Amino acid sequence: MTFENILVAVEDNLAKVTINRPKKLNALNKSTIEELHEAFKSLEENKDVKVILLTGSGEKAFVAGADISEFAHFSVDEGGKLAAKGQELLFDFVENLSTPVIAMVNGFALGGGLELAMSCHFRIASDNAKMGLPETSLGVIPGYGGTQRLPQLIGKGKAMELIMTAGMISADEAKSYGLVNYVVPQDELQGLGEKLASKITKNSSVAIGKAIKAVNDGFKDGINGYQSEVQQFGACFGTEDFKEGTTAFLEKRKADFPNK
Ligand code: COA
Repeated sequence: MTFENILVAVEDNLAKVTINRPKKLNALNKSTIEELHEAFKSLEENKDVKVILLTGSGEKAFVAGADISEFAHFSVDEGGKLAAKGQELLFDFVENLSTPVIAMVNGFALGGGLELAMSCHFRIASDNAKMGLPETSLGVIPGYGGTQRLPQLIGKGKAMELIMTAGMISADEAKSYGLVNYVVPQDELQGLGEKLASKITKNSSVAIGKAIKAVNDGFKDGINGYQSEVQQFGACFGTEDFKEGTTAFLEKRKADFPNK
């Protein structure tokens, strides 16, 4: 896969997607969002890929937000469409991907950048990372799911404060809020991402995909998460992975999942 604004590398069971506009601090313009959609779609279809790591190019930024230069002149209608299209193509798409996506936040994750990190299934950060939703300082609100996912992850009060102050928090603060799971020096971030990925790839990809769905369903309007869990749990019993996982346990050996 070759793209203009992103880099995609696949090695064994691991894919790495790097947003590659370092001169613009990896700001998300329309074509970057479209390319990310194509990349995630094709990586999900590639059954060899069991984990996707997402990061930003350079040492300064994960993503410094949506590309302000692209929407500064937009009308009400265009603004609404910008948010809707972005959520559909990228933010909701990543959240609902059956392949786990880990955000490696390697610097500024602001606005759409933090919203993208929050769409990933979990986040790790380097100690220089800074996170925030500065949209109200631009006269707008977070439009790529930030008003929903930030309160889900850190609670309503802290989310309200971050959105209203448009402030930035450090990686350590983000960890204490539960927004990122680990903080490490920048040169250890990739290694940590790979270590976590290798733990995930040992398990059943089919079960992991179903767990992602059950967890996400609990946050969706009109869907009962417990019922979804019952359905996904039951469906596991019809998979080859379940047969292999339980048989391997009973035979006292490591499971070798066919991922079917
Ligand atoms: N959209 C478009 N371009 C952006 C951008 C964004 N969200 N964030 C950074 N850039 C561009 C800058 O315009 C600059 O481009 P230029 O060199 O052509 O002028 C380049 O990236 C480097 O950014 P710069 O502001 O010079 O770096 P800095 O180290 O002084 O500041 C930030 C870093 C992150 C504090 C600052 O870039 C910033 O506040 N960015 C916007 C953050 C934001 O509001 N995001 C939410 C958008 S909804």
